[in-house]
Amino acid sequence: NKLDMELEAIEKGGYEHFMLKEINEQPRSIADCMRGRLDSRAGRLILGGLRDYMNKFQNADRIIITACGTSWHAGLVAEYLFEEFARVPVEVEYASEFRYRNPVINSRDFVIAISQSGETADTLAAIELAKQKGATIFGVCNVVGSSIARATHAGSYTHAGPEIGVASTKAFTAQISVLSMMALMLGYQRGTLPESKYMELLSELEAIPSKVEKALKLNEQIERIAAQYKDARNFLYLGRGYNFPVALEGALKLKEISYIHAEGYPAAEMKHGPIALIDEEMPVVFIATQDSSYEKVVSNIQEVKARKGKIIAVVTEGDQTVKKMADHVIEIPRAHEAFVPLISVVPLQQLSYHIAVMRGCNVDQPRNLAKSVTVE
Ligand code: G6P
Repeated sequence: NKLDMELEAIEKGGYEHFMLKEINEQPRSIADCMRGRLDSRAGRLILGGLRDYMNKFQNADRIIITACGTSWHAGLVAEYLFEEFARVPVEVEYASEFRYRNPVINSRDFVIAISQSGETADTLAAIELAKQKGATIFGVCNVVGSSIARATHAGSYTHAGPEIGVASTKAFTAQISVLSMMALMLGYQRGTLPESKYMELLSELEAIPSKVEKALKLNEQIERIAAQYKDARNFLYLGRGYNFPVALEGALKLKEISYIHAEGYPAAEMKHGPIALIDEEMPVVFIATQDSSYEKVVSNIQEVKARKGKIIAVVTEGDQTVKKMADHVIEIPRAHEAFVPLISVVPLQQLSYHIAVMRGCNVDQPRNLAKSVTVE
């Protein structure tokens, strides 16, 4: 009815879709997530939920991250963060696999369950299993008071605000923000991150919201790229290191809402299969920011170019090398490589959004998908 429609329009805050609103909210949702927790000038980082469990966290033999969908991708980013900063072994598990395979787990394991809704049945079951085996369970949830938030021993909320679009956007970046703070804290406490490096990383992380704000301004350019590729039947997304999970997430966003088949791959694995798919019809999205795997990614771009694939590359502002090879470059602000996913995922969210709109798809409620999957 009319009232409902008016209400919905108000909730969308002037945007045509919730997804677009939520994409654009990210500078604020990331800042909200860090508010009161991170203050780089004071050298302060506090996560209330961790206070009583810091000992367990710090002395854990291993961190196991469990989640589904986009939250699982945030877990993959966290694997890189925890291993780099805190030198703790990390395993990232699909909750649905973990719960059924009699995993080896004990009281010295620290399990992190990531869930936007806090209601995902498989994630909840994985938590119960790990709990029975004596592990400490920490939740990273968006919905306050949700089942997962209640089932875990402790946790930190992502504070991204309600996410309505089925395709997760701002929840993903908020999850990575919480996990980044956890990794910095752990590295500092365990002594694997020297004080000066720790302080530098705190201010790098604090600077992310304004860089995301800047990245969002590329929207019109991305809309033009979308118009050019909206009829493609397949897409490949490639990245390495911290941007490998971003490639997975970019591909997931596209298939979820535009129904175009898309695969995300670690760029170097391309030669073990996906390279066979490349011809002049195939758009390949590279996340090729200037980080420790940059040179390697550049050679992967060359391999695609040699096979006439169409290259859309997300690069660091000012990049000249990739510009010469790619059909399109999307320049995002420079950041510490560990925090780049928070920025590099944004143009991929926008790309999938515009393609879906142009194809006439129901962006906020794609067919066959649910916002929270409470059945296994
Ligand atoms: C569903 C949603 C995804 C989400 C996944 C995990 O598939 O459509 O967007 O990533 O569930 O949900 P969770 O609430 O546990 O993060």
